[in-house]
Amino acid sequence: MSWNRRHLITIEELSLAELEQIHTVAAAFKKVLGRSVKKIPALRGKTIVNLFLEPSTRTRMAFDMAAKRLSADVISFDAASSSTTKGETLRDTAENIAALGADMIVIRHNCAGSPLYLSRILDIPVINAGDGSHEHPTQGLLDTFTIKERLGTLRGRRVVILGDILFSRVARSNIHALVKFGADVTLCGPSTLVPESLRSLGVKVSHDLRSALADAEVVMLLRIQHERQTASMFPSLGEYTSMFGLNRTRAGWLHPNAIIMHPGPINRGVEIDSDLADGDRSVILDQVSNGIAVRMACLYLCAGGRPEAVTPTE
Ligand code: CP
Repeated sequence: MSWNRRHLITIEELSLAELEQIHTVAAAFKKVLGRSVKKIPALRGKTIVNLFLEPSTRTRMAFDMAAKRLSADVISFDAASSSTTKGETLRDTAENIAALGADMIVIRHNCAGSPLYLSRILDIPVINAGDGSHEHPTQGLLDTFTIKERLGTLRGRRVVILGDILFSRVARSNIHALVKFGADVTLCGPSTLVPESLRSLGVKVSHDLRSALADAEVVMLLRIQHERQTASMFPSLGEYTSMFGLNRTRAGWLHPNAIIMHPGPINRGVEIDSDLADGDRSVILDQVSNGIAVRMACLYLCAGGRPEAVTPTE
C-alpha cells in the first residue's frame, strides 16, 4: 500500500492500514537509530520548521532529532522572541515561514484546529504536534508503537487511560488509535473529567478505580491539564490523588505483566508515585525514545518518501 497523505493532522482520519504503515516504517527507522551512524540521507536538502507556540520538551526535541536523523535542516521557531509578540497572526507567520523556503511545518498550538487550518492554506506538508485539547497524533502513534513492542499486539489488550481525559489531546489520539487497533479501552477518572459521552468513541467509562484497573494490561496515566481548565473540576489535588493517583497498592490490582505509561510531563506524587514511574513496569522512557523513530516515519512519509524504500521485504 502506498502512502497518499501530505499532512498528518489527526489519528481520527487515519485508517488502520495507515497506522500500521507508520509503525512499520518507524520500526525500520528504529533499526537505523541502533546503528553507530544514526543518520540516513532521506530528507537531505529539505528544511523543516518546528513552529511551537506552546511549551514542549519531548515532542519538540524528538521532532528535532527525527529531522536531523533524516538529514533535514531544522529551524526551531522561538515564539517568545518572534513577531507573534507584536500581534502577527498565525496565518502571516506560517505564510512567511513558507515564503522563506520551509519544506514542512510541524506545529503545536493551544487552539484546536490550527494545524488543519494551516494545511488548507499552505502548499507544504503540515504535521500536528498537539492542538489544544483536540489531538496529539504522534503521541498516539508512539504510545501504540510502544505497547505493540512490549505486548506483541494491541488486539484485545485491556488498556486503561486514567486521569484528565476531557482536556487531553493525548487521550483523544490514543483512544482513536487504540480502538482502531482493536484494544479494549476503559477511561477512568472523576466524572467531571471523564464524561459518559465519551462512550460514543467506542470505549468503556468508569469512575471506580479498582474495577477499572482489575487485570488491566496497560495503564496510561495523564496529568491534570490545569492550563486548559476554566473551572475547578475536583476539590483539590490531594483529593484527586487520594481517589485516582496510582500508587503501589493500586498497581497491585493490575495484570502481573502490566506496563505503566505516561506521555509526560509527570506530576510525581499526584497522578503517579515516583517508585512506579521509575519502576520495572514503567515504559515511560521507552515512549520518549520511540518518539524519534515514529516521528521520523511521519516526516518521511509526509515528505513523499516511499515506504518500500525503507522497509524491504525479507
Ligand atoms: N508528551 C508531550 O507532548 O510532552 P511535551 O509537552 O514535553 O512535548
